[in-house]
Amino acid sequence: MRQRARASILAPWLSRFAPVLAVGLALSSCRVGPPAVTPAVVTEARATWPQATPWSLDQGRALFMDRCERCHGLPRPASQSPKAWPGLMDKMGNRAGMTREEKRKVLEYLMASAAVAQNPPSAPTSTATSSTGD
Ligand code: HEC
Repeated sequence: MRQRARASILAPWLSRFAPVLAVGLALSSCRVGPPAVTPAVVTEARATWPQATPWSLDQGRALFMDRCERCHGLPRPASQSPKAWPGLMDKMGNRAGMTREEKRKVLEYLMASAAVAQNPPSAPTSTATSSTGD
């Protein structure tokens, strides 16, 4: 009897919020991944590492998803400034047991993604405003 009463109190709430719950569960169990490797990310990475390619950056992203979520949530690339990533990535990569090559690929993905997030390609000022010299 008590159980029934409780169920009937919960039922309207559940039916009302079921879609919200479903979306919440979907997002938390099967997350939307970190930012994709866009052409802007490739361009940004190649300015520093000419050997970077869409594929090497995608590998970096895959390694990042695979190795960096074991101890804590997957951080957003833009949660750190591009300059902060090399030191952090070295330390975290060691914790994740990654090789130098793997660390480098993840670093390229993270730094380029962080830089693009800070300075999105839609801002048309990056190439046209360097006439002052500093
Ligand atoms: C073996 C566990 C472990 C793995 C694997 C790991 N981390 Fe961490 N991470 C930690 C711990 C613990 C902290 C808390 C801060 C600290 O101890 O330095 C942390 C903190 C961080 C922070 C926050 C630092 C800050 O100052 O805000 C970032 C960003 C981060 N990790 C990125 C990564 C990345 C990228 C990877 C994959 C290469 C990774 N972590 C893999 C354990 C791990």
